[in-house]
Amino acid sequence: MTTSRGGRLSGIDGVCAVITGAANGIGAAHADAFASAGASVACLDIDKAGARRVADGIARRRVQSIAIHADVTSFQSMREAAATARETLGPCRHLIANAGIIGPLGPTADTDENARRRTLDVDVTGVTSPVKAFVTQVCDESGTIMIASLVSGLRGWSGSIAYHASKHAVIGPMRSWANDFATHGVRVNAVYPGRVDTAMIDIQAEANGLSHSESESLRAKDQLVERFLAPQEVADAVIWVSSDPAAMVNAVALPVDGGLIEPTMPS
Ligand SMILES: NC(=O)c1ccc[n+]([C@@H]2O[C@H](COP(=O)([O-])OP(=O)(O)OC[C@H]3O[C@@H](n4cnc5c(N)ncnc54)[C@H](O)[C@@H]3O)[C@@H](O)[C@H]2O)c1
Repeated sequence: MTTSRGGRLSGIDGVCAVITGAANGIGAAHADAFASAGASVACLDIDKAGARRVADGIARRRVQSIAIHADVTSFQSMREAAATARETLGPCRHLIANAGIIGPLGPTADTDENARRRTLDVDVTGVTSPVKAFVTQVCDESGTIMIASLVSGLRGWSGSIAYHASKHAVIGPMRSWANDFATHGVRVNAVYPGRVDTAMIDIQAEANGLSHSESESLRAKDQLVERFLAPQEVADAVIWVSSDPAAMVNAVALPVDGGLIEPTMPS
């Protein structure tokens, strides 16, 4: 077995992976990891130029990749993306439902109503629609589905209520789908990263009037590894779970958070 950057991986090499929100951040790292391990990659995103940039970067390494302009909140858009991806790269074996937004920050009472609803739409419907659109292909391939949550979806952090509600909400569908699709040899899991160094982290830092490094030292101090994660570190965990050596990892909510701990009391 090798890591995502070390070469081919059984169950990944030669198959098609579809990644939502692939234009930036963690999604772009997933695209890179799957391509490095030998998969062809469909990069779905509303950021058309970003998805094209990621797909072109992969194609330059002589790995098949396409960018598809698609909105995870629209089932019609996902259905069209599923048809295009299949036509171009073959059936999807691995679906990574990664796209998400952080939504409105700050206290609940001050939350803009439209922004709250939009967050629930992108972060919850934005998981169920791609799964609905791609599941037949994934079942035919006995593949995997990975859902992007956030470690706050297992515990609860203050502020950003719509975001945290959404990240809690996806564990139920994940477990139901793992049951529903098991007879097709499909595994369904969810990844719960801690703070990952992407544009999302900068949005939070800015909202709190902090520089990047101030935000990192403040926010990562409740982790055993006291730093932000790199997007590639999430992708490395996800690609292993998607690969054949992880055949017994199923219906799991997997934290990838540097060892987030409860505040410690002096002994
Ligand atoms: N950055 C973190 O600290 C962190 C931690 C844990 C989990 N996550 C989760 O990981 C996922 C990726 O986060 P990121 O930090 O890479 O964010 P990002 O903002 O860097 O990337 C998100 C991508 O999703 C795309 N997107 C947004 N709405 C979309 C839509 N309606 N349809 C299609 N694509 C859409 C964006 O265009 C963007 O390319 C999200 O689900 C996020 O909640 C992030």
